[in-house]
Amino acid sequence: MVGKRAGVIYTVDSVPPAGNPVPGTVLILNGPNLNLLGTREPEVYGRASLADIEAMCRSRADELGLKLEFRQSNHEGELVDWIQAARGRVDVLIINPAAYTHTSVALLDAVMAAQVPTIEVHLSHIAKREEFRRHSYVSLGARGLITGFGAAGYRLAVEAAALLIQQAKAP
Ligand code: DQA
Repeated sequence: MVGKRAGVIYTVDSVPPAGNPVPGTVLILNGPNLNLLGTREPEVYGRASLADIEAMCRSRADELGLKLEFRQSNHEGELVDWIQAARGRVDVLIINPAAYTHTSVALLDAVMAAQVPTIEVHLSHIAKREEFRRHSYVSLGARGLITGFGAAGYRLAVEAAALLIQQAKAP
């Protein structure tokens, strides 16, 4: 048992959530250079393209009854705009901020301001890499972090989003 809320007991195996899907909207944002996945340092980031990852997330979101939006930008300000616009509209934000993870107070501030539960995802295990990748500004505003599971981490994040939505909307 890992937690108890409003009379419902949550166990590790309650991811993915059992029972009827709870409707919700999930926004997945991807930062710079993730458009190159598949050909970019495949020994670090794997061979799946961003389109492959999007298809995997859409299929899992469909199974879980979630509406999914999936976007990528190489521009910090565009990511900030999308996070701001998520406020009150999106139930869970999943973000791989890529290199901005390690540099961007602006993305952290946007996540804090948006007040949308946020799951941070990295394909690689950032804590095991170069020193400069071990710190994440975005983590300070994130509900949780999934790192080191490659493309599968995105699917795990969609499942975690479903769990958060189910918990938030539980009677
Ligand atoms: C990354 C890790 C970052 O350090 C890097 O800049 C990326 C991808 C990952 O998914 O492992 O672009 O976020």
